[in-house]
Amino acid sequence: MVIKNHYQIIQKLVEATKKHEVYRRTECINLIASEGLKSPAVCEMLSLSQDLECRYAEGENDLEGHVKTRHYQGQKYVTKIENFTIDLIKNLFGCAWADIRLVSGTHANLATFKGLSLATKNNRMVVAPLSSGAHITHDYSGLAGKIIGLETINHVFNVTNMNIDPDKSAMIIRASRPGIVTFGGSLFQFPHPVKELKDVAREVGAYIVYDAAHVLGLIAGGEFQDPLKEGADFVTASTHKTFPGPQGGLVFANRDDERMKTGIKKIQYSIFPLTTSNTHLGRFPALGLAALELRVFGRELAKQTIKNAQTAGEYLFERGVKVLGADKGFTKSHQIAVDVLQFGGGKIVAQKLEDANIILNKNLLPYDDQHHKDDPSGLRIGFQEVTRRGFKESDVKHLCDLILLIIENKRRPSEVKEDILTFRNEFDEIKYGFQSVHEAMDYAQAHQL
Ligand SMILES: Cc1ncc(COP(=O)(O)O)c(C=O)c1O
Repeated sequence: MVIKNHYQIIQKLVEATKKHEVYRRTECINLIASEGLKSPAVCEMLSLSQDLECRYAEGENDLEGHVKTRHYQGQKYVTKIENFTIDLIKNLFGCAWADIRLVSGTHANLATFKGLSLATKNNRMVVAPLSSGAHITHDYSGLAGKIIGLETINHVFNVTNMNIDPDKSAMIIRASRPGIVTFGGSLFQFPHPVKELKDVAREVGAYIVYDAAHVLGLIAGGEFQDPLKEGADFVTASTHKTFPGPQGGLVFANRDDERMKTGIKKIQYSIFPLTTSNTHLGRFPALGLAALELRVFGRELAKQTIKNAQTAGEYLFERGVKVLGADKGFTKSHQIAVDVLQFGGGKIVAQKLEDANIILNKNLLPYDDQHHKDDPSGLRIGFQEVTRRGFKESDVKHLCDLILLIIENKRRPSEVKEDILTFRNEFDEIKYGFQSVHEAMDYAQAHQL
């Protein structure tokens, strides 16, 4: 499009931006499982770091994760900011090394998979099947295969349990002898069998990578499996899903022996110089503050998030909806998977719900034809954002009632939208977080944190 009138375009840009803020922030109930809601304190911290948004800090880090060398001038505060944030993250996850220079979960996987394939000189990786919840970055058809050139081999997945089958996957790992065994995923209700497979991975010389993009906040709260304690070597993640920080990525690990040091060094090399120049410094202070929030509120937030997801699973199931993982209590994470084929399929149902200002996403289920991405039979529903807005079990049930009215065609979405707007208005405050940077500092001081 040739722009003839820049004034008009900028005016429209401003208008669309403002409208978006009102729409998604105040008028919708957001149930996308991969999104997170930042507290006022974290937002304030972001607003304090505008100059950082302009700067560069290329260079090398040491085996603590701290800044070692920088190739730019003007770093006297930037270095402190990166080191303080690293320490807050290491403290939260009880690990010896972390790197926050990744700009997203995708970037964290890119650098980690690349680094570990260099460390092992092995191009094979065992991953969950894409159809059963792995992220596209794990798959041969995405970053792992097309960008890094890894050959991916699938874990065996048990659809009834919605989990990796440890015995059958052990056979796969032994037969394929990969350099990396990956756990974690995007459709991810139940802890993966890390402790059951860690010895098998070791036996074949593979590193275990655990992709905690979705469940990082639950891990921080101590309410999901602790991947490092269970035997994972590296944890990769996004910092903006159940971990309600600024958009970014993260990788962390312990550093017990030469094998781990080699892995860390290769990942660091893959971060810089291989895949990073600007590390988006403006998010670091806000990431540090989000880490403090999770230290303080993480357990309560994770507990209520999981309780809300389980409540929704059970409530919908009792009303005739096919919720996956019923035998296992529907979920142990922030999300549930629902088969809505009987109501027209994921595409139609997600659109109807959007028409009522309920935002969630359609999702392929393990038994779907994987070529039908555009019209899968499922929905993935995440409860981390509504929990942060203060939803308790009774609120989740009320929301489910409104969802049922729509999907069972008992009321039109446009009518239910009125109820959603009223309901949404009851949850204006963001809980399990600080209202200001000042409040966070006062709290930390008063509690000698
Ligand atoms: C399991 C998993 N890994 C990695 C990613 C990529 O993270 P990001 O969107 O931060 O690049 C996602 C995204 O949703 C994910 O679900």
